[in-house]
Amino acid sequence: MRNYAKLALAKQTVKEISNLRFGPEIGVGKLKTDTPVLEPLLTALDRMIADLRKYHTMSDTLATVFLADARDMRRHLSPCSIDAVITSPPYPNEKDYSRTTRLESVLLGFMSTRADLRRQKQQFIRSNTRSVYKADTDHSWVADIPRIQALADSIEERRLELGKTSGFEKQYAKVVRLYFGGMARHLSELRSLLRPGAKLAYVVGDQASYFRIMIRTGQILGEVAERLGYEVLDVDLFRTRFSTATKEQLREEVLLLQWNG
Ligand SMILES: C[S@@+](CC[C@H](N)C(=O)[O-])C[C@H]1O[C@@H](n2cnc3c(N)ncnc32)[C@H](O)[C@@H]1O
Repeated sequence: MRNYAKLALAKQTVKEISNLRFGPEIGVGKLKTDTPVLEPLLTALDRMIADLRKYHTMSDTLATVFLADARDMRRHLSPCSIDAVITSPPYPNEKDYSRTTRLESVLLGFMSTRADLRRQKQQFIRSNTRSVYKADTDHSWVADIPRIQALADSIEERRLELGKTSGFEKQYAKVVRLYFGGMARHLSELRSLLRPGAKLAYVVGDQASYFRIMIRTGQILGEVAERLGYEVLDVDLFRTRFSTATKEQLREEVLLLQWNG
């Protein structure tokens, strides 16, 4: 029971009990002078009990969760064993996903030191300048894709034009190369694990976080996938968001791929 209770406590600490705010980045809201703790905890436990009762009838449908890096899956999965991939991977948007889940990561014992945090961040596809490391090599996976090189070069040129010199801004072009390189590594690794005919869906969004230069994430990932032998079935528009920075519509899309073997 202890693990269920800990999970419920971690969830409600983030959602209800603490003063964390998501908008969409994580932040700290007004300090609370008092807050109910037991009530949200019991609500979460009740919900878990109801879920377990409901899904208990499906217990012959096995579900396994791997805490792992999607660029390094061969140690967990067998060859030709995947029929479908449905995922919402990171985008190159300066979002540090380790921040979003830091409180519950500590409460649940996944990390307690800076070295643990670093280990977690190193398992992530690079999508922000706070998670770039000297030893990173994913950029080499897209070194021969002119569109990605031109995009990264244009970000660096814009930085020089604007005279921006902070350590973070100097990394923008590198993050773009590492991001698409990491996704290329993931798609490459996946190939031997997919059954011929397998279908894949990636929800991704256009971004303009780096000096307002438009990054057409879905289109570029489609090109990366095609080069790795995938068939692009569609780039399906999911919704658009208006970017106040660029005054353009940013597309959120589902990139649909097929692996024909
Ligand atoms: C756009 S978010 C999707 C969030 C998800 N849909 C959810 O509701 O929790 C991207 C997620 O990918 C995870 N991620 C980043 N790099 C990863 C990697 N190399 N392997 C597996 N997951 C990764 C991040 O931690 C983040 O939770």
